[in-house]
Amino acid sequence: MKLLVIGSGGREHTLAWKLAQSPKCEKLYAVPGNPGMEDIAECISGISIEDNDAVVKLAKEKAIDLVVVGPEVPLTNGIVDALNGAGIKAFGPSKLAAELEGSKAFSKGLMKKYGIPTAKYEVFTDAAAAREYVKKEGAPIVVKADGLAAGKGVIVAMTLEEALHAVDDIMEDKAFGQAGSRVVIEEFMEGEEASLLAFTDGETIVPMISSQDHKRVYDGDKGPNTGGMGTYAPAPVMTPDMVQAATERILKPAISAMKAEGRPYKGCLYAGLMITKEGPKVVEFNARFGDPETQVVLPLLESDLVEIMLACAEGSLGSLDIQWSKGAAVCVVMASGGYPGSYAKGKEITGLDEAKKAGNLVFHAGTARKDGKIVTNGGRVLGVVAKADSIQDAVKHAYEGVGRIAFEDAFYRKDIAYRALARQK
Ligand code: AMP
Ligand code: GLY
Repeated sequence: MKLLVIGSGGREHTLAWKLAQSPKCEKLYAVPGNPGMEDIAECISGISIEDNDAVVKLAKEKAIDLVVVGPEVPLTNGIVDALNGAGIKAFGPSKLAAELEGSKAFSKGLMKKYGIPTAKYEVFTDAAAAREYVKKEGAPIVVKADGLAAGKGVIVAMTLEEALHAVDDIMEDKAFGQAGSRVVIEEFMEGEEASLLAFTDGETIVPMISSQDHKRVYDGDKGPNTGGMGTYAPAPVMTPDMVQAATERILKPAISAMKAEGRPYKGCLYAGLMITKEGPKVVEFNARFGDPETQVVLPLLESDLVEIMLACAEGSLGSLDIQWSKGAAVCVVMASGGYPGSYAKGKEITGLDEAKKAGNLVFHAGTARKDGKIVTNGGRVLGVVAKADSIQDAVKHAYEGVGRIAFEDAFYRKDIAYRALARQK
């Protein structure tokens, strides 16, 4: 089969890496891809992944059998509808289904209607009314821009003042552009977070191995939110009972709700969960694989990813028996100094081969090729991954890999998986 991966980050490198291992994969393309994928995929530049017509045209020209869409923006733009309309199979939700991520007001409304556990909330288009509500509810409270804001439109306000500021920033000053014309204000949930990704064909939903992200930029979960500074899988907070509870109370009801709403959901459903005293509750749904969750989840997948994705696209997921490794995986993100603020690009990266030789998986997130060298080209540059029998060994080996790699002003969190390690003491 001929496969095409859409996207250029660490998540897409990981998807490409896993797809390429399938005996079914004869030829793999990536648009635009990244230098880390070049040995497994033909990377095609010059096509915007936000231009559905251009992607469909390419997929036809290359006779692609299955397109795998990484990021949320093409999904919410309806790339899967466009591909399916041209008779091309794709892994990912339709435009209507991707609204589960694209609009927080939609996803919160769905959860309320179908009794899926999540934080209590109200939606506002009027800033004065939003301020009144914040004053009535008090802090801590969470203020979110409604639309896509690249993971940055959420303010967890610990004081009333902060919350009122957040409303002004989002609604009056349009800090996140149009995404802030509506805000969702919700109850603060206390607990430990976990990510539960799942494969679904619209009827059957099968959770993947659980994982945990580290969103804050500095050790000890300090500093601003980022796209994710590291991950590990499985997450001990997701005990078998907790996975079962999340599957029965959240994943299955979400899939039947989307079907009932005439928006059947196929692809990867990502449930961002808060494990509270009352059990798992939804922080957010994403319509795609997590980044960097994918970098630790897929290395633990023993089954053939092409087979699973085809089954999701074709509606036959129920007939598969998906196998996971018993081990653990850890991903440490190496970032450019200054991220998530401004940072320099074009710094030469050394030690990539040494880390790979020592058994690490190194997924490229923000790199470019320049004069035959690999250089930095983004905030999150690399995801350095290790797989081992235990989380302790995976942490040790991931950091050994990080130690072999260098670029100017590189930084990374030194405490990835600290919650899992603390539980084992
Ligand atoms: P989101 O983009 O909705 O995932 O929110 C980003 C981060 O804000 C989450 O990963 C949580 O750490 C935090 N957060 C969001 N909503 C809540 C909530 N209702 N209670 C507590 N923390 C939250
Ligand atoms: N790691 C968080 C996300 O992919 O949204």
